[in-house]
Amino acid sequence: MIATEILLQDSLTAEDIVCLLKTEGQEQKQLFEKAAHVKEIHVQNKVYFRGLIEFSNRCRKNCLYCGIRRGNVQTLRYDLSDNEILDAARVAFENRFGSIVLQSGEQAGDRFAKRIENLLGKIGRFSGNRLRVTLSCGEQTYDTYRRWFEAGADRYLLRIESSNPELYQKLHPDDDLHRFVTRMNCLADLRKTGYQVGTGVMIGLPFQTVEDLADDLLFMKQMDIDMVGMGPYLEHQHTPLFEYRDRLLTKEKRLQLSLKMIAVLRLMMRDINIAATTALQAIDAAGREKALMAGANVIMPNITPGCYRDDYALYENKPCTDENHEDSLRYLESHIAQTGHHIAWDEWGDSVHFQKRNRATGFSTI
Ligand code: 5AD
Ligand code: SF4
Repeated sequence: MIATEILLQDSLTAEDIVCLLKTEGQEQKQLFEKAAHVKEIHVQNKVYFRGLIEFSNRCRKNCLYCGIRRGNVQTLRYDLSDNEILDAARVAFENRFGSIVLQSGEQAGDRFAKRIENLLGKIGRFSGNRLRVTLSCGEQTYDTYRRWFEAGADRYLLRIESSNPELYQKLHPDDDLHRFVTRMNCLADLRKTGYQVGTGVMIGLPFQTVEDLADDLLFMKQMDIDMVGMGPYLEHQHTPLFEYRDRLLTKEKRLQLSLKMIAVLRLMMRDINIAATTALQAIDAAGREKALMAGANVIMPNITPGCYRDDYALYENKPCTDENHEDSLRYLESHIAQTGHHIAWDEWGDSVHFQKRNRATGFSTI
């Protein structure tokens, strides 16, 4: 079947998705237009801001693609102080962001769990519980997820990276700290706890096929995920996966493929939140705006206090590292307006998908 006909269907098979991911030119344009239309109907042309605070780049893991992996001794490690984190959260609140993301490398132990719990309490108090908090701190025990939820975190991001267990294994060391099954169990625990659950994958990885990517989208649908953040894989010279850089698509192709992934996902999951990720911007200064036009509805401006940002280099050429956030906010606002979207200041922007599921099951989140 041709892409134009597939775009008229209500549901997509793996073969349909592969066909859409291979579109170019006029057909690709039609895909983006359809996704933009579906978005407007189901979640409107609003953009939700999440202030991203990368509060520590310490990580106990050694993922083969990531610049802040434990084994990269060339990365300077940092931890923001509690006050620095709270100040950044206040900046987001005062700038009417509606929500923040606290992200770090994966750290374990009771001290870390308590620290986050304590910070969540303080953020809740200074904002009168009017700032939604998303956590992105990796794999944790069910008990830790529950404690953080009870302390006020509403959403959790944990990317599956690839839903193909064999590819997952190629991207991670073969040890008990890096098991696909653990990642799956964590996603199940997060759902059970009551979070709005976000996941995502990297796009254009070595060894990854278009069929893998189609399966990734079907995985998100099957897991009934509430939020997705996915973006292009970007090679980092101080990681083992750098060895395979010759096998990669060009960066422009990885960008286009990422935009098509967003568009197809919007057709498949009409009312979820989809982020226009920073990795898109690393390839193209207008990458995030292009993602909005292809179906994304969330942007995560980096509000980590300036002096640390360079060290949170998951990949090279990570953008926004030397931007003063006041300036970059103004810049973002004007560029977003040019795409026909408006920023939903002061709104939480909960996943509509999550709200509907909870209404259907009678589960209250407040
Ligand atoms: N390129 C793109 N994304 C990366 N991440 C980590 N390393 C890279 C890379 N080299 C992403 C992973 C992780 C998130 C925090 O950053 O998907 O989940
Ligand atoms: Fe740590 Fe996440 Fe990087 Fe893996 S991807 S090394 S868990 S920060």
